[in-house]
Amino acid sequence: MTNMDNSKENCQIGMIGLGVMGRNLLLNMASHGFHVAGYDLDKSKVQSLKNDSSEIAATDNIQDFINSLSRPRNIMLLVPAGKPVDAVIAELLPLLQPGDLIIDGGNSHFTDTNRREENLKKNNIFFMGVGISGGEAGARSGPSIMPGGPLEAYRRIEKIFQAVAAVVDHQPCVTYIGPGSAGHYVKMVHNGIEYAMMQLIAESYHLLKSMYGMNDHELHDVYREWNDSELSGYLMNITCDIFTAKDAETRHDLVDMIKPIAEQKGTGMWTSESAMTLQVPTSIINTAVEMRDLSLLTNEIQQAARLYPATKSSITIPKNEFIATLKNAMYCSIFMSYAQGMALLYVASQAYSYDLHLQNIAEIWRGGCIIRSAMLDDISQAYEKNSQLSNLLLDAGIATQLKNRMVDLRQLIASTCLSNIPTPALMASLSYFDAYRDNASPANLIQAQRDYFGSHEYERIDKAGKFHTEWEKVIIK
Ligand code: 6PG
Repeated sequence: MTNMDNSKENCQIGMIGLGVMGRNLLLNMASHGFHVAGYDLDKSKVQSLKNDSSEIAATDNIQDFINSLSRPRNIMLLVPAGKPVDAVIAELLPLLQPGDLIIDGGNSHFTDTNRREENLKKNNIFFMGVGISGGEAGARSGPSIMPGGPLEAYRRIEKIFQAVAAVVDHQPCVTYIGPGSAGHYVKMVHNGIEYAMMQLIAESYHLLKSMYGMNDHELHDVYREWNDSELSGYLMNITCDIFTAKDAETRHDLVDMIKPIAEQKGTGMWTSESAMTLQVPTSIINTAVEMRDLSLLTNEIQQAARLYPATKSSITIPKNEFIATLKNAMYCSIFMSYAQGMALLYVASQAYSYDLHLQNIAEIWRGGCIIRSAMLDDISQAYEKNSQLSNLLLDAGIATQLKNRMVDLRQLIASTCLSNIPTPALMASLSYFDAYRDNASPANLIQAQRDYFGSHEYERIDKAGKFHTEWEKVIIK
C-alpha cells in the first residue's frame, strides 16, 4: 500500500535531497508543469515542500518515492558531494530496475562521477553528472545547467532542463556537454573561474578601501558604475549590492562585520589540481585558491603584521584616475581568468575525450550562473570564428580589446607594488600575459641546468632531436 494519492504517480522526475537547491529546482520544474516527486529523510523538509506546493509528491518514504516515478525512472540527487552521494546511490540501487537513470546535480569531483557511472553501468543503470550553477535563486528561477553523461539518458530529461534553465537571447542556458564526467568537469572549471573573479574583485576593493579610504557607500557607487559597463556581470552586481547592506544588530555596514577568512568547498582547488595534471597554466585561479588558504592563517598573519609593519604608501595618483586605471586592469584580469579556464577545457576535452564545444559552453554561461557576464558574448563570438581556439588571447578581436587596456594593468601593478597592498591575482594575470607572449623565454637555461645535473637532454634551435652534453668537459673553470 502506498500513501501517495493517484494524481501523484507517474512523476517524470524525482528529487532526492530537499535542501534549498533541491527544493527550489523541484519547485521550478513543477511551475513549468512537470509532474515531479521529492524525497528527503528529514520530515520537516518534506512538510515544508508540501506546504509550498500541493502538486509535488513529497515524501520521507523511499519506497513511496520510487513508486511515484514513471518508468524508466529519472532520479536526481541534490545532496552534498562526496560520501552522501555514494550512500544515496547504495540505498537506491536495490530499488531500481535496468534503464533507470540517476542524475547527480551536485558539485561532485569528476573522477567520482566516472567511477559511479562505470559501477552503475554494470547494473544497467544510467548515470549522469550534471553541473548546476546559480545558487538558491538560480535553482528557483533559472540556473545554468551543464549535463554530462550518456546522450540517450540526456534526451530523456532534456525538455525538463530546457524548461527550467535561465534564458538568454531566447536560448535556454543548457546544452549537452559531453560523455562521462564532462558536465561535472565543466562545472568545476566554472567554479575555478568564479574563484578567480571573486579574488580579483576583492583585490580591487582592498585597493580602493586601503589606498583611498573609500567607504562602503562610495564603493557601492564604483561597483555600480562598473556593473553598468563592459565589466557588467553577476558577481559585480552582487558586490555592488553588498556595500549597501547593514548589520541588523550593530547597524554597521555588514561587510565590515565579517571576518576576512575565505572558506571553500574544494572546486577551485580541484580546478588547479587538474590544471597541474594536464599542464595548463591557470595561475589566476591557482592564486585565488591560495589566497583563500592564506586567509585562514589568522594567527600567523597577526604575527607577521607586527613583525613587518607596512610602510605608508607614497602613491599620489588622483582617485578618479586610479579608478579608471583599475577598471581597465580588472577587465584584462577577469578576461584572462576566463581565458585560463577555457584553455583548461580545451586541453581536458582532448585528454578525457569529452569533445567539448567551447562556444556552447560560453553561451550557456551567459545566464543563470555565477560567472555570467557581458564578456561571455565576446568569448562566444571568438569560438564561433574558430571552434579550435586553444587560447582566447589568440583571437584577433579579443587581442584588440586587451591591447587597449593592458597598459593600465601594468600601470596599476607598478603603483600597487609600492603601496604595500597585496594584489596577487592582478599580478598573476599580468605575469601570465607577459610570459604568454614572451618569445625570448629563459626556459633554455632550465633545460641546460636539467641536462647538466641529470642528463635529461634538451632540444636545439638549429637541428631536430634530443641532445646531451657532458657539461664538465665543455665548461671553462
Ligand atoms: C554555483 C556556485 C555553487 C557554490 C560554490 C561555492 O555555481 O552556483 O559555484 O556551486 O556556491 O561552489 O563554492 P565554495 O564554497 O568553494 O566557495
